[in-house]
Amino acid sequence: MQETRHRVLDALAAGPASGPALADELDISRAAVWKHVEALREEGFEIESVDDGYELAGVPEFGGAAVEYGLDAPFEIDPHGSIPSTNARARDLAADGAEDVVVLADEQTGGRGRLDREWTSPSGGIWLSVLCRPDVPMAHAPVFTLAAAVAVTRAAREAGVDARIKWPNDVLVDGRKLVGILTEMEGEADRVSWVVVGMGINANVDPDSLPTDADPTSLRHERGEPVDRRVFTQRVLEAFHDLRSDIDSVLPAWREHATTLGKRVRVETADGPVEGEAVDIRFPGALVVDTDDGEVTVTAGDCDHL
Ligand code: BTN
Repeated sequence: MQETRHRVLDALAAGPASGPALADELDISRAAVWKHVEALREEGFEIESVDDGYELAGVPEFGGAAVEYGLDAPFEIDPHGSIPSTNARARDLAADGAEDVVVLADEQTGGRGRLDREWTSPSGGIWLSVLCRPDVPMAHAPVFTLAAAVAVTRAAREAGVDARIKWPNDVLVDGRKLVGILTEMEGEADRVSWVVVGMGINANVDPDSLPTDADPTSLRHERGEPVDRRVFTQRVLEAFHDLRSDIDSVLPAWREHATTLGKRVRVETADGPVEGEAVDIRFPGALVVDTDDGEVTVTAGDCDHL
């Protein structure tokens, strides 16, 4: 959101204010105040005219300005109603040199999942991609996928949903898929140039409208009522920012919320299947499996709980 517009909104959040008081506080003309108020109304903010001033009466349910309003993390939001894929858009922004941008959409028409599968993304979900440029080697990038899984799981649990993480990057409720995460990156071996962490959050969507193979669920379905997508998105982005700022905190948080640890698993890896009990996670995101032949560390693969 434009800087002055943000400040107008912050000032109104503190309570009703007169046009002259706002103009004084923000050091702009009264005409400029009016122009920003009109622009905010167009973005969906309900700003009522009272006496000779304005009062904030409502915030839009979703969208870029809504999510930026009150967001306690240093991300710029790139909002879209409908877009083919937030990850594709974030990759384009990365090529243009952008950083700390979150591409956010209500609907995707060409959403992609892992292994280039289709990701169905109807209106009512939270489809977002975080573009960042961490100063780490490429080999460490998987930790950002784990951080995203922890961030969404925390937000879901705060919203009253018993979400758990399945290695490496699914968030489940009672075995049903709530969230999928797709991380893409570019760089040299010793340094990441950019990472795009795409999160597909089945928020206020009907699980019956999603493909059945993943046995999907949604926040609305689990709660029995819609989730506030604006607040939920803010909690996810704030948690993700906290975790990426303190990488050592990611693995302990992942362990706390994991459903995979302690379970018998079968992981299809490039070198064949690995079967046994999942006993731990190792930086930057490898699963340690206790097999009949001893412990095996698996860095990638499709994991089934047996
Ligand atoms: C999976 O296969 O489980 C990962 C799904 C990731 C989907 C998200 S939705 C937002 C972002 N944009 C995409 O096209 N994909 C990711």
